[in-house]
Amino acid sequence: MDFIDLKTQYRRIKPSVDARIAKVLEHGAYVMGPEVVELEQVLAKYIGTKHCVSVASGTDALMIALMALDIGPGDEVITAPFTFFASAEVIALVGATPVFVDIDPRTYNLDPQQLEAAITTRTRAVMPVSLYGQCADFDAINAIACKHNLPVIEDAAQSFGAAYKGKKSNALSLIGATSFFPSKPLGAYGDGGALFTDDDNLARLMREIRLHGQDRRYHHPRLGLTGRLDTIQAAVLLAKMEIFDDEVAARVRFGARYSELLAEAFAGQPNTIRTPYVEPFNTCVYAQYTIEVENREIFETRMKALGVPTAVHYPQALHTQPAFDHLELPEDRYPAAVAAARRVISLPMHPYLTEEQQVRVVAAVREAAA
Ligand SMILES: Cc1ncc(COP(=O)(O)O)c(C=O)c1O
Repeated sequence: MDFIDLKTQYRRIKPSVDARIAKVLEHGAYVMGPEVVELEQVLAKYIGTKHCVSVASGTDALMIALMALDIGPGDEVITAPFTFFASAEVIALVGATPVFVDIDPRTYNLDPQQLEAAITTRTRAVMPVSLYGQCADFDAINAIACKHNLPVIEDAAQSFGAAYKGKKSNALSLIGATSFFPSKPLGAYGDGGALFTDDDNLARLMREIRLHGQDRRYHHPRLGLTGRLDTIQAAVLLAKMEIFDDEVAARVRFGARYSELLAEAFAGQPNTIRTPYVEPFNTCVYAQYTIEVENREIFETRMKALGVPTAVHYPQALHTQPAFDHLELPEDRYPAAVAAARRVISLPMHPYLTEEQQVRVVAAVREAAA
């Protein structure tokens, strides 16, 4: 059993993906080729924003968003302490200081109730993460940010395809930034990412920054990056978009099925494991299907012995990472993030799971958590 099965997906889209890649090899525009323009149109339409700017990775997407907002040394950017390292890394990379706001332990997303207390005169942006494929509470976050005149960037690396109150992730705030890392809900065959906005000026700046800050050939009003998405990756993503709605539906179905099966398996022991909580207004795409267990190390070892792959996203809260030692944040400063980092473990999740595999995974969880 695979943790994420990309081979079955490839077999399904092989004719389209092979033909599209072959076309790129033939026309030879490997950087900024016609597929990049086509993909940006397809993605902007899918998300429902005026602009899509494709980039080289999710990390570049976040970094370019911060650069376009002119955020740098002396500035603070608020994010969650329980996420992939890149969410806070990019803040430090532009020279600003990450400021953490603890998570809501039910959804693992930034807790809007704690947001206002973290805003200072140096705060320049709020960057909530939509973790595991479920959007943060953007109405609440946007309202507080708006009161303080702060832009909101959604770290939507794990939530492409998710919806919040009927609106797509990436279209919920000033800028949405996503990742096309192969294992993400929409994944390329290498690194990739995209930015979404309705703001014409920001879209122009982000396009310039992904191309070394160039506004016309060899003229650079600002610094930028080699931040472009490869044409071959755009071709792959165009092929995957043909089946994406169907894959999202499968993710939603399999997530709900796991929760049902686990509820049945642990009917007599409600506190042994915790299954994901999805807000009623959210459609979760389950970038990860993540449960909580008591003795994770033992659980992990037993699952491995039972032949079921698992992964921990993420074993350490960001404020305790050595790279942020200089922030001098005590471990107990963000207790919900620390508790989640100790207990979470993700089960195999992808749109090609079978009923039999889900039953097998749940039987293994039952045994491993005993
Ligand atoms: C929440 C989050 N933010 C940012 C990133 C960075 O994306 P990438 O790996 O495409 O640079 C990831 C991807 O792993 C992520 O999960």
